[in-house]
Amino acid sequence: MLSEEENCTLTQVGPGTPMGELMRRYWQPIAAVSELDTQSTKPVRLFGEDLVLYRDRAGTYGLLDRHCPHRRADLSYGYAEDCGLRCHYHGWAFDETGRCIDQPFEETTHPEARFKDRVQVKAYPVEAKAGLLWAYLGPQPAPCLWDWEVFYATGFKQIVFAEVPCNWLQCQENSIDPVHFEWLHSNWSVRLRGRDGPYSPRHLKVGFDEFDYGYIYRRVREDTTEEDELWSVGRACLWPNALYTGDHFEWRVPIDDTHTLSVGWFLDRLPGDAPFEQASIPSWYAETTDVRTGRWLDTHVMNQDFVAWLGQGVIADRTQEHLGDSDRGVTAVRKRFLDDLEVIADGGDPKAILRDESHNERLWLPRFASGQPTGITRSGPNAGQATAYTLGEAGKPRPFSFLAGQPPAIAAELERVWSERNSQV
Ligand code: FES
Ligand SMILES: [Fe+2]
Repeated sequence: MLSEEENCTLTQVGPGTPMGELMRRYWQPIAAVSELDTQSTKPVRLFGEDLVLYRDRAGTYGLLDRHCPHRRADLSYGYAEDCGLRCHYHGWAFDETGRCIDQPFEETTHPEARFKDRVQVKAYPVEAKAGLLWAYLGPQPAPCLWDWEVFYATGFKQIVFAEVPCNWLQCQENSIDPVHFEWLHSNWSVRLRGRDGPYSPRHLKVGFDEFDYGYIYRRVREDTTEEDELWSVGRACLWPNALYTGDHFEWRVPIDDTHTLSVGWFLDRLPGDAPFEQASIPSWYAETTDVRTGRWLDTHVMNQDFVAWLGQGVIADRTQEHLGDSDRGVTAVRKRFLDDLEVIADGGDPKAILRDESHNERLWLPRFASGQPTGITRSGPNAGQATAYTLGEAGKPRPFSFLAGQPPAIAAELERVWSERNSQV
C-alpha cells in the first residue's frame, strides 16, 4: 500500500513532475519506422506533451512541438521537405533541431531582418532501431539507446500498438506479476471458452532478482521444479517500463497521466538457419473494444492484460490495496523508482542508464532455450495444453495470440515466409 502522496508521485508524468523527469531520461518507442513509409508525419502525445513526428525527404527524423510557433497551426498536417517539415498554413519550415529554416513571406519582404533566426520550436532527438522510432525527451547528453541482442534474431517481426486509457504504472506493474498468468490468462481463458476447468497448475513459489536492466522474475508451479526454465532462467521486467518474455517486448509508454501507448515487438523464429532479411517490419494498431457491446475485448493475451489494468481505474488507487507475498516484485519496483527520484535530485543517473557506447552491443536478456511460451503446461494431466497462448498446427507458424485485430495480410505473409523456409529445411 502506498500513501496518496507516493501514488501521485509515482503516476504523474507531465513536464516538471518528479517521475516525469525520471522517465524522460530513457528512450521511448513512439512509432514504427514502417508507419512513416506511407505518411510523412505522425501526431504523438508523450509525457503530456503534444508533438509531431516526421521524416523528411532526406530520411532525417524529427520530433517537434505539435504547434507552429507562428500562429499555432497543427504541424502534424505539415509536409516533409528535402530538409525539415513545412507548416501547411503559411509555409514556415523547421529542421530536426527545431530551427526555423524558412519563412517565405518574411524573407521576400524583409530578408535582411532574418526573423527566422529568432524563431525556434521545441525539438527532441529521434533514433531508429529494430523497426521502431525512439524519442528522448530528457536532459542532454542522452544515454545509449539499448541494443538488445534479440533485435538481431533471425525471424519475422511485427510491431503492434494499442492505446490504453489508464496510467502507465499499473501497466508496468503487470510486468513483474508472475501469478497473474495462472488466473488472468490460463484459468480465465479456459472459462471464456465456455469450459469449467480444469484449473491450471498453481504457482508454488515466486522469486525476484534485480539485474542491470530491470528485475528477473521466477516461478515454480505444481507442474515444474527449480530445474525448469520458468525458475532457472526467468523472465525480465525491463527497466523502466517494459516486459521481455523471450521473443517479444511490451513497452508501456506514458502518453499522459491517464493514457498509455502499448508498444509490442514480436518475433517469430523461422525454420532453418539461413539468414532472413525483412525489408520492412510491419506495424498495426490492435483492436481493444467489442463494437457490439462496448466492453473491452478479452480474446487475446494482451487484451486480457488491458482488461485488468483498466479495471484498476484510470489511475489505480494504491492506498486501497492489500499486498501479499505474490506482490514482492511490485513493491520492489515502486521502492526502486522512489529511491531513484532521490538519486536524480542529487544529480545522479537512475537505474539502467547506459552511457558507454562500447558496452552497448547486443545486450543479453534472459530467454528460454526451449522457446516455449509460459502458457503451455509441461506435465501432469494438462500436459501440452495451450491455455492462453495458442499452439500452431504442425508445419505452420503459431497463430498470433497476443492482440486482437491482426491484419490478414500480415498473417498471410508470415505463413508464406514460414512455409517457404520450412520446405527448404
Ligand atoms: S501557423 Fe505555421 S506558418 Fe503560420
Ligand atoms: Fe499478462
